[in-house]
Amino acid sequence: MAGAKLTTCPDPEDCFRRPSCLPVTDEHHVQIVRRHALQCTAQLGMSRLSSHYVATAVSELANNLFFHTSNGGEIRFCCLDKAGRVGIEIIAQDEGPGIVDIAAAMTDGFSTNGGLGAGLGGVRRLMDEFEISSKPGIGTRIIARKWLTEAELCCDRKSH
Ligand SMILES: Nc1ncnc2c1ncn2[C@@H]1O[C@H](COP(=O)(O)OP(=O)(O)O)[C@@H](O)[C@H]1O
Ligand SMILES: [Mg+2]
Repeated sequence: MAGAKLTTCPDPEDCFRRPSCLPVTDEHHVQIVRRHALQCTAQLGMSRLSSHYVATAVSELANNLFFHTSNGGEIRFCCLDKAGRVGIEIIAQDEGPGIVDIAAAMTDGFSTNGGLGAGLGGVRRLMDEFEISSKPGIGTRIIARKWLTEAELCCDRKSH
């Protein structure tokens, strides 16, 4: 979408502290959620490499919301900080057509619309935790988490 305004996080200074929820109903939203993911992970203290892994996973989930549903969906970002573990949780959900065969959808090369079919498998590999639930006719919900490594935890984090 040429010329579309590219917004970022509602509160860029503090976007990882508060959970945020961004809509994905238009193609240009994919860039917005990707950028938001980079902001959140940078503020969390994640390495640039891991931040780009998360951003790529978010892009894939956002692409799926756009290309595999008619009304899009939303992506929630939440900072996790519990029991000495710090990370980011991504929840992509929609009320689209759902996935009939989740195992097939998770298989590299499987696509119902002529895509590469590597998105969901890629998200699972890029993130530390991955959960998918889907009901045909109801929608799809994917939860993915990535945790800071020990080395990342030891570094000076902007927020703490
Ligand atoms: N949010 C979604 N709603 C409905 N179906 C989905 C959704 N996300 C993924 N799928 C299904 O899973 C398949 C595999 O997804 P993916 O690995 O991202 O490959 P691709 O997007 O290239 O088709 C898709 O072709 C589609 O059938
Ligand atoms: Mg895809």
